[in-house]
Amino acid sequence: MKVIFVTGGAGFIGSMFVRLILEEVKDVKIINFDALTYAGNLENLEGIDSNRHEFIHADITDRKAVLEAMPENADALFNFAAESHVDRSILSADVFLKTNVIGTQVLLDVARHRRVKRFVQISTDEVMGSLPEDENSFFTEESPLRPNSPYAASKAAAEMIVRAANKTFGIDTIITRCGNNYGPRQFPEKLIPLMITNALNDDPLPVYGDGKNVRDWIYVEDHCRAIWEIYLKGKSGEVYNIGARNEKRNIDVVRSILDLLGKPYSLIKFVEDRPGHDRRYAINPQKVETEIGWRPRTSWEEGLKKTIKWYLENQGWLERVRDGSYKEYYRKNYGARLGV
Ligand code: NAD
Ligand code: DAU
Repeated sequence: MKVIFVTGGAGFIGSMFVRLILEEVKDVKIINFDALTYAGNLENLEGIDSNRHEFIHADITDRKAVLEAMPENADALFNFAAESHVDRSILSADVFLKTNVIGTQVLLDVARHRRVKRFVQISTDEVMGSLPEDENSFFTEESPLRPNSPYAASKAAAEMIVRAANKTFGIDTIITRCGNNYGPRQFPEKLIPLMITNALNDDPLPVYGDGKNVRDWIYVEDHCRAIWEIYLKGKSGEVYNIGARNEKRNIDVVRSILDLLGKPYSLIKFVEDRPGHDRRYAINPQKVETEIGWRPRTSWEEGLKKTIKWYLENQGWLERVRDGSYKEYYRKNYGARLGV
């Protein structure tokens, strides 16, 4: 039986990873270590095989707690735990530095002490900054790190200390950089679930700037499968970009959501832009395709339909996560923009 240590496994991507691995890989036991911040939710783990899953409620910046929870010689550590939302990092960056940078350093230290066999850092294409639009340029593993938001800067810093741990201490590390994920259980602060939620409530849909910023979308399950395959087949010390060759302008994403929900475009409201808003992300996934043999399985059309269906069928989940702290964040970020 393999033992893997997953951090942030109650969040959007981490919980999908836990579900997928428990379902598809029968000889794995998962220790799921999560602080249950506003984005962590035990409901995301309902229905999993609890015999092969142990949940530990603690913070990755708490060295003692990490040391106690991490067994000797675990087969791998997958670090999903992070503050993940750009707009929140613009409002206040402190916790981003604490969790994303210090937390990663604590995990690396303890992983070395406990002789974890492979450390997989879940990073993001945002560390590479922004690409020009209307150009045939793409992010590759060699692109320079040019983060433009406090969130992206904290993730870039985390990558650097993972690299340093590999070079200095010989820890077996891998960094994966994925683009924008979508799918079930994504917290409704991110574009797609926010637009679904507001449309369902006939509230205005706040599109930043001119709506022509481009993101490279991937269905969350495809991302998780890529991480597992890279863990199994990737080379120590390497970076792997993950993308589904699926660039979309924000405004087109929002219109597709309204079309699928049968709601009018008049709900769209163009609002003041995000400061430092990256114009375009686009990943060249050639390395993961050729070296690892991974390909996405879910088309954009199918994935968006499945996502909307999930939110329609889980409106209780949505109402519970839109609690007082969500409403407070919403007022801070959108109050002036929407006049609410
Ligand atoms: P999320 O915000 O939905 O979940 C983050 C999880 O981490 C939550 O369960 C939260 O409770 C936990 N967490 C936060 N701080 C913690 C701490 N100090 N100690 C322990 N647990 C803590 O995030 P997500 O969208 O699922 O992203 C997961 C990872 O993937 C992040 O590292 C993010 O940078 C990366 N990523 C996300 C995307 C995307 O599109 N969402 C794309 C590429 C990479
Ligand atoms: O690319 C990977 C990254 O994707 C991850 O590292 C981040 O964790 C994840 O949050 C995501 O970052 P983005 O900033 O691209 O995602 P977000 O959903 O916040 O925004 C997507 C696009 O939609 C972006 O161009 C901003 C725009 N947007 C977003 C919101 C929340 C709007 O126009 N209006 C909004 O209200």
